[in-house]
Parts: sequence; C-alpha cells; structure tokens
Amino acid sequence: MQWKGAAPRRPSAPEISPTAKSQPLELTTEITIHLTPFDRKEYRQLIEARGETIQRVVTRLKSALGLSNAVDAGCGVGFFSRTLRECGLNVCGFDGRAENVAEARRRFPLIPFEQGDIEERGILQLGRFDFVLCFGLLYHLENPLLAIRNLRSLTEKCLLLESMCLPGEKPSMLLRAEPRQEDQSLTEVACYPSEVSLVKMLYHSGFSMVYRVMPLPDHEDFRETTEHARRRTVLLASTAPIDIAGFRLIPSLKKPKIPGQRSPRQRARCHSESGDSWPALRERSTSHWRIAFGALFRGCLSPCGCRSVRGGWRRRARWTTNCSTTNSSAWKRNL
Ligand SMILES: C[S@@+](CC[C@H](N)C(=O)[O-])C[C@H]1O[C@@H](n2cnc3c(N)ncnc32)[C@H](O)[C@@H]1O
Repeated sequence: MQWKGAAPRRPSAPEISPTAKSQPLELTTEITIHLTPFDRKEYRQLIEARGETIQRVVTRLKSALGLSNAVDAGCGVGFFSRTLRECGLNVCGFDGRAENVAEARRRFPLIPFEQGDIEERGILQLGRFDFVLCFGLLYHLENPLLAIRNLRSLTEKCLLLESMCLPGEKPSMLLRAEPRQEDQSLTEVACYPSEVSLVKMLYHSGFSMVYRVMPLPDHEDFRETTEHARRRTVLLASTAPIDIAGFRLIPSLKKPKIPGQRSPRQRARCHSESGDSWPALRERSTSHWRIAFGALFRGCLSPCGCRSVRGGWRRRARWTTNCSTTNSSAWKRNL
C-alpha cells in the first residue's frame, strides 16, 4: 500500500519470460480497442511520421546487417512493434505499464508483449536482439544512462533511438516533473537530455558508432521553425560501422570540459571587470586582433572598418581601424 501524498513508487514488473518461450497467440476476429492517449490526433501524426522513418531504416539495414529479430522498448500499445513485424522481423515488445501491455496484446495478438522496466536489470532476461527500437521512452526516465546501458546489453547489432531533446550544443540534462498518464514516466519525474548528451551516453555505454538518421521524420518536432528549436532526434547506435546512405556519423566527444571552468576570453573579461590589470588588457587586445583578422578573412569588414553587420562588430571594427594599415592585401601579407 502507498501513503497518500508519498512519492510515487515504480510499479514492480513481474518476472519476464525469455522470448524464446513466448507463444504466439491465436488470431481472434473480434478486437475491442480502448481509446488511449496514443489515439489522439496529434499523437497519430507523430506516430505516422516516425513509423515511415522506422520502415525506411529497417528496410535499408535488414539485408545489409542480416537483421532477423527485434525488440520494441517502451512499446506503448504496440503500433511500432507492428511496423517492425511488417518489415519482416521476428518482434516482441515490452512496456513498463501493465495496462499498455494488455491493450497491445488485444490489438496485436500475434506479437508477444511483456511488462518490463528498462531501468531494471531484470529486463536483460529478454535476451539479445539484432535490432532494438527505443522510441519516445528515454526522456520519460529518471536514469537515462542506466537505461541506455541496458539497451546496449539487449543489442546485438544496432539500436534505433528516438527522443525529445533540449536545444543547444551542450551535453546537458533537465530534471522535469511529469503528469501521471499512460504515455509518461512511471515515477512522475524524468531527465530530459540534449542530443549531445544522448550521443555521449551511447558511446559511453559501449556502442562503437553513433549516427543521426537523415532525413529526420517529416514532422515539425524534428524541424527548426520560427516558433521553436528542433525538439526531437533519431539516432542509430551500432556495434560496428555502417556504410549505408542515410546515416550521418556523429563522432565521440573526446575533450571533457571541467564544469565551471572559464575560457581565456571569459577570464580576461572577469579581470577587466574587476579593474584592468596589464595581463588582462594584453589578453583582451590579442583577442580583439584575432577577431579583426578573422572578420577580414570572412569579408565582413572593409579595411576602413565601416562595413559591419552587428553593433558588436562595428565597435571592434572601429577599434581596429585606428590601428590599421591602408589596404586589406597589406593586412593579409602581414599575417
Ligand atoms: C511516450 S510513450 C512511447 C510509446 C511509443 N514507443 C512511441 O514512441 O510512441 C512512453 C512509453 O514508455 C513507457 N514507459 C515509461 N517508463 C518506462 C520504463 N521505465 N520502462 C519501460 N517502459 C516505460 C510508458 O508506459 C509509455 O507507454
């Protein structure tokens, strides 16, 4: 029993039987479909766009990598498990919620579905699969890195991962509260990763290559718009290099930055804000020169320093002009 007002507890998943033992159910003619959040119109559009991408990717990889079986992690009510089956893979699915598993079994009786939690080691009893699909799950988890490690252990050849992501180029994560709903976190809290942090976690958990799927699904969540930054991504993580069109390699980030460490430019700015010392001035003027030379090479700045696009540039341009020679070729010769 759970206390009123207590933190939600992760529902315990029952024993998972390995797929080898699961029996296909007999096809029945009458199916009752319970409408769920997955059946809302906006969700259907997202499912359709992502379903086309899954189909395209699996069709390309199936013969090249010799894929035969697959698992759909966080399968909801099973629609992508069906897509994988239609692509000719021997598929099973699991979800953390008993009610989704029951509905998936009702809708797709030929596919074996189990209740299972990707953040628990017990999920590894399912075995290993040539192709692992993990769509719409990662940003609903308390511990995405642990989940990715488990996904790696389930993967024989490759993992196709779709996730919402924070905008920006940093390996960041945001802790968010989530509503209590069938398509959300099991514990009402989740870590929301940036694309860079997803890539980092995939390499860290032992995948040897990570690619971005190109093109991304044809849905506005996968595009930059005037209203919002790109919200989602689809990555393919593999245990061996994949030399097929449609996948852009994202290399592993090798150089870790120490959190809170300032760049030389930020350090110089701090010095000057607390009174201009000589080393600060020297560092600042060097960076001004670097900016001015860079601008010259990019053609943003005329030698007399008046053709600039933004205010910041114009200020630097004027400063540079006071020290400049008369024509740009002379500048370039001096470098
Ligand atoms: C947004 S739905 C995604 C459904 C489908 N894969 C898709 O992309 O549309 C997230 C699903 O993950 C399930 N889920 C949440 N936490 C989970 C966990 N720790 N392990 C397994 N499934 C989980 C939810 O029950 C829900 O069905």
